Amino acid sequence: MAILDKHKALEKSPTLLLIFSFLAVTVGGLVEIVPLFYLENTIEEVEGVRPYSPLELAGRDIYIREGCYVCHSQMIRPMRDEVERYGHYSLAAESMYDHPFQWGSKRTGPDLARVGGRYSDDWHVDHLVDPQSVVPESVMPSYDFLLDRMMDGEYIDELLATHRLVGVPYTDEMIELARADFLAQADPDADHEGLLERYPGAQTRNFDRRPGISEMDALVAYLQILGTMVDFSTFTPDESR
Ligand code: HEC
Repeated sequence: MAILDKHKALEKSPTLLLIFSFLAVTVGGLVEIVPLFYLENTIEEVEGVRPYSPLELAGRDIYIREGCYVCHSQMIRPMRDEVERYGHYSLAAESMYDHPFQWGSKRTGPDLARVGGRYSDDWHVDHLVDPQSVVPESVMPSYDFLLDRMMDGEYIDELLATHRLVGVPYTDEMIELARADFLAQADPDADHEGLLERYPGAQTRNFDRRPGISEMDALVAYLQILGTMVDFSTFTPDESR
């Protein structure tokens, strides 16, 4: 066939073959890559996913500072054993406000992407103070000092502003009220109306049951929100993307 004969000519000349391969790769590359520059966002938006509240965000900083990610991942892969153990596989949207993301690369301990609501606050506090007291064979170290390290939220507005700088949609109002929201979330007697409007589903209570806001309060508030923002009883993936 004529067209195959022409192709033979291509195959026999290294220079022609090089030129045409280069053209094929260039056109293919442009078709794949150029549209990405015109998309605002490549992540499917999912209802319920919101930026972290000031207290949760502070807890997340402690999680990073203490290197919890060295032993724990936060990414449930869409494989049957993982989904049966940890719950619905992780969605890209669930870590879209995580800077840096906490997917992790090693599981000395279990995945924590959906640990929120799985245990009580008391369990978390007991476990973080003395892991072996609740799981005797645990190799997790103690973080009892978090109970004594108190936080006053002095710079929390700047933490939010920094996250806004890298793309988290914190509003001026959220940043202005960051400290008030930080204090209110750990105080069961505070007025939570504004906080819950800004951060729907935020859990408000004294997480470590001790006076004042400790790093333990912040860390447990963070752990308890993990994986709980999306309601999977109503979630249906957008198959068109
Ligand atoms: C040296 C590795 C290591 C580090 C560091 C570590 N953990 Fe763990 N973690 C484990 C292991 C192992 C388990 C499973 C046994 C247990 O429950 O203690 C675990 C269990 C947990 C659980 C219970 C998870 C479940 O689904 O049962 C939570 C929550 C947790 N860790 C939080 C943390 C936090 C928060 C930090 C950082 C402050 C942290 N871990 C640091 C090893 C680690």
